[in-house]
Amino acid sequence: MTSQQPEQVKAELGVIPETALWTLYQRAAEARRPDAMLHDPKAVELVDRLDHPFAERFGTSPLQARLQAMRVACFDREVADFLEREPRGTVVCLGEGLETQFWRIDNGRAHWLTVDLPESVELRERLLPPGPRQRYLAADATDLGWAEEVDRSHGVLLTAQGLLMYLRPAQVRALIAGCAELFPGGSLVLDAVPHWFARLTRSGRMRTHGYQVPPMPWSMDAGERAKLRSADPAVAAVRDVRPSGRGLAGALLPLALTVPPLSTRRPSVTVLDFAERPGRP
Ligand SMILES: C[S@@+](CC[C@H](N)C(=O)[O-])C[C@H]1O[C@@H](n2cnc3c(N)ncnc32)[C@H](O)[C@@H]1O
Repeated sequence: MTSQQPEQVKAELGVIPETALWTLYQRAAEARRPDAMLHDPKAVELVDRLDHPFAERFGTSPLQARLQAMRVACFDREVADFLEREPRGTVVCLGEGLETQFWRIDNGRAHWLTVDLPESVELRERLLPPGPRQRYLAADATDLGWAEEVDRSHGVLLTAQGLLMYLRPAQVRALIAGCAELFPGGSLVLDAVPHWFARLTRSGRMRTHGYQVPPMPWSMDAGERAKLRSADPAVAAVRDVRPSGRGLAGALLPLALTVPPLSTRRPSVTVLDFAERPGRP
């Protein structure tokens, strides 16, 4: 008997959608480690299925993979906490790419909506066909038309993981303001790169192997996160999500993150809670 190998899929993506291959590759690299801090067999399966020169293009960096996994774990923790409170809630993943969070966190009852650019959604549909509680929308996240598709009956959590840095600052403010107005009582989990990092991408000096990290127009130092409140009066609270690690590094990390410049100039994950009624924090 011969075992049937799944069909290999070629990924031909534009510059920004290709960034989802980079994050996928990092998650899979971490998940392959015997001491992995992220359990993500679906990511490993996808990397094996994709006909893409991952290693030649992105290189191999266990540190990069671990840092990426720490960021992902912050998002997973927030989504899992939300599903504890709202088991039948809707998780809206803006710019979801080939994220496999559904397979890590789903509780068997929640609804999941992916919003991403058409070419990314096309690849996602081929590799990760949606189940009955999942929907994929090919749409620009900055055009808030997708909000009409969201089931609000059991609470809404929005995520923008690895997305906002590719938007212009005015688009980021408008997206936050729109979400705050359209999802009263909801929350948005987002991540940001610090200004020094975004400057390196814009000057073309952020290269790994054959890969040129695309320019990042929007950035935010961790110490500036309170300013996100000014995007809209309905942004009622702003909260930092601290990563945790493993072993000695894991124990020291929370302490290290309280000391400047790490406390203020590091990549960050932030939760914005929206007022129950727009305009009334
Ligand atoms: C760095 S990847 C992040 C993918 C995934 N969230 C993760 O963390 O692995 C950026 C994603 O944002 C998507 N994206 C970029 N601009 C977008 C926009 N205006 N609207 C929707 N998606 C967008 C890209 O197609 C890509 O899938």
